Amino acid sequence: MQKATNIHWHSGEITRQDRERVNGHKGVTLWLTGLSASGKSTVARKLEEKLFEMGCQVVVLDGDNVRHGLNKNLGFSREDREENIRRVAELAKLLTSNGIINITAFISPYRADRARAREIQAEGDFLEVFVDCPLEACEARDPKGLYAKARRGEIKVFTGIDDPYEEPENPELVLDTRADDVDGSANALVEFLAAKVIIKNG
Ligand code: ADX
Repeated sequence: MQKATNIHWHSGEITRQDRERVNGHKGVTLWLTGLSASGKSTVARKLEEKLFEMGCQVVVLDGDNVRHGLNKNLGFSREDREENIRRVAELAKLLTSNGIINITAFISPYRADRARAREIQAEGDFLEVFVDCPLEACEARDPKGLYAKARRGEIKVFTGIDDPYEEPENPELVLDTRADDVDGSANALVEFLAAKVIIKNG
């Protein structure tokens, strides 16, 4: 819902194309979705390093981090998760339109929320990546001890335990983080970006 009235869009003189020309790559949102501990943040950070070393303008938006600031007033109810994703999707769009490669790492458990994040961007600007790791494997990793807490009932509405995760139906890419290590997954994403001609080959 649009609350404010009398607001007008203001565009600068520097276009997205100008920025992409100077950057030497296109802007894009790589939307990573998957269970907690599936490897989203780890793969996102490894990919960020690789792209940075290649000279790309790249930024990671991470669920745990964004919830410390921009989204500190949101919890994990259905409504709050929707608002979490809505804000981040707008931020991702802003970054893409400024020629920046943005990698988002949010559980983003609902298909409808991810579909809205896709809809607000142009075709090809939003690429959904399913970070696929079965619940048993995520639970065995449990790097923050959250699954154990959720099993003990100390955390409510924990994704995968007593809250849903809706798997993507048509993601642009699937990463199997049980089969591949972090470096392999990040390399697969670099190749994927090159194949989509977002970054230059080689
Ligand atoms: S989302 O569902 O709204 O997309 P987001 O990715 O921002 O979630 O945050 C998930 C992170 O919050 C998890 O990795 C975990 O560290 C923490 N967390 C705390 N409580 C929950 C919960 N009930 N469900 C899922 N994650 C939780």
